[in-house]
Amino acid sequence: MRYLVTGGSGFIGRQVVKMLAREGDQIVVYDIKPDKDRLAGLLGDRDSSKLTAITGDITELDPLVKVCTDHGIENIIHTAAILDSLNPAVTVRVNCDGAVNVLEAGRMTGVKRVVMSSSVAVFGGHDKYREEFIPNDAPHFPGSLYGATKSFNERCVDYYFRTYSLDAIAVRFTHVYGTGRSSGIGTKFDEELFIKPAIGKPGKVPYSESIHNWIYVEDAARSLVLASKALKTESRCFTAGSDIHSVAEVADYVRTLIPDADITLLPGKFQLAYKFDYSPIQNELGFKPNFTIENGVKDFIDQIINENG
Ligand SMILES: NC(=O)c1ccc[n+]([C@@H]2O[C@H](COP(=O)([O-])OP(=O)(O)OC[C@H]3O[C@@H](n4cnc5c(N)ncnc54)[C@H](O)[C@@H]3O)[C@@H](O)[C@H]2O)c1
Repeated sequence: MRYLVTGGSGFIGRQVVKMLAREGDQIVVYDIKPDKDRLAGLLGDRDSSKLTAITGDITELDPLVKVCTDHGIENIIHTAAILDSLNPAVTVRVNCDGAVNVLEAGRMTGVKRVVMSSSVAVFGGHDKYREEFIPNDAPHFPGSLYGATKSFNERCVDYYFRTYSLDAIAVRFTHVYGTGRSSGIGTKFDEELFIKPAIGKPGKVPYSESIHNWIYVEDAARSLVLASKALKTESRCFTAGSDIHSVAEVADYVRTLIPDADITLLPGKFQLAYKFDYSPIQNELGFKPNFTIENGVKDFIDQIINENG
């Protein structure tokens, strides 16, 4: 199948590209900063011919439509976004206007499916919910502008499905960790909790009184690929999560892998919701995470050690 992966140079997008290439798909990466060398290195000689990397901005519709037409795109996985609310106007332009452009390009060019990346930030915290495990179709109470843009994306997915019969799906992730993260609050956790200890530097982990639902980047990417290839689904949006642990528990586990790790846990809480009902994603997409926190963290730390000699 011929795929467009927006944001394909990003943390999750790169893993999506790698998985699609392994499955024999042709991929066009559409990214405002496509790192062509890094993508080529990721795919290796065998798969690099399956990739075309294009510099493009999702806030402009016409070039997106042209790329879909020129490359005969059949399926879109949309991962381009701004992961914070530091510049609200930019976050809204990219995450809202940009997402609508991606859906619109998909509609205009007749793609088979559009898969959008969402976030459990749409739910805010647990305090608004009576259920211990937040249902897949629970109402949204985002506590941040970023979460509100993702909630808007999910509404757009539903709107395009109902109004234009565009087969759009959204997968919302919990806290994603793994190699190569460079945006959003999770970057700080990855740097201080995993990267610095693995290269022998002291790590000072912020918000260490938080509990997270930790999903490894390969699992997050696999959920998008599964969503793009699944048969017709009943649900339009799905929550994908994995293991629940406090930051202190994960730090203890890092210390078992790196006995001389110098990790300081700084006080504070950055607490998003972390308990969810996964029945729809399991039943409709066949998704279950492959990585527990133990093998995800081990894989991540092994990669950091390999990259740093
Ligand atoms: N990382 C997480 O923990 C997490 C959690 C929940 C949801 N998500 C969602 O997953 C998706 C991917 O996140 P990520 O962690 O890979 O982010 P990332 O920042 O690593 O990647 C985003 C990519 O989008 C590109 N981009 C930004 N603006 C663009 C524009 N205007 N036009 C084209 N490309 C543009 C960037 O260059 C980058 O390569 C996002 O939608 C994010 O909201 C991520």
